[in-house]
Amino acid sequence: MNDCDKKIETLYSAEEIAEANKRIAKEISDDYSGDELLIVGILKGAFVFMADLCRLIDVPCCMDFICVSSYGSKTVSSGSLDIRLDMNTDVRGRNVLIVEDILDTGLTLSTLKEIIIGRGAKSVKICAMAVKYGDDGKPVSDGVVSADYYGLRIDNQFVVGYGLDCAEKYRNLPYLGIL
Ligand code: IMP
Ligand code: MG
Repeated sequence: MNDCDKKIETLYSAEEIAEANKRIAKEISDDYSGDELLIVGILKGAFVFMADLCRLIDVPCCMDFICVSSYGSKTVSSGSLDIRLDMNTDVRGRNVLIVEDILDTGLTLSTLKEIIIGRGAKSVKICAMAVKYGDDGKPVSDGVVSADYYGLRIDNQFVVGYGLDCAEKYRNLPYLGIL
């Protein structure tokens, strides 16, 4: 049996995720009230969350996507990022909200945030569907980067569903599960 073919236990139901999304969307809508937003989703994992979240945000939004893969494993803090597909929106002078599926070590997001700031964005914030917490009760990404908005807390576990994969499987599950 493959590691990805184990039984999946529900961690957060579709209803719990929807509740969290409503809360984040309200915070974002309040914070950017009277302003415009450029939402940048990180492919592939963020596509499900972003589709739900953006429909709950009530400030004017544009959307773009970027596809990245991190060279760095958890043991390598190189932070170097491979941009496989870049966005084509000019970010200069815009309020950018990076939308990510899950914030783990933060290497992906800290690097990407620097890149977008370097391109001249007016502001850059991070919204993650979930944040991983370590055994010390702190976000694993503490000291590297933090999420300005996030929905759910995940303890030190590997989760799938709602956009997240194990070897490309399970992204279509409507809930978040533990393998
Ligand atoms: P970071 O650079 O370590 O924060 O990497 C975050 C990326 O790793 C996420 O965008 C996910 O693609 C992947 N990832 C981290 N934890 C999980 C998990 O529990 N399940 C599936 N993918 C994960
Ligand atoms: Mg991924």
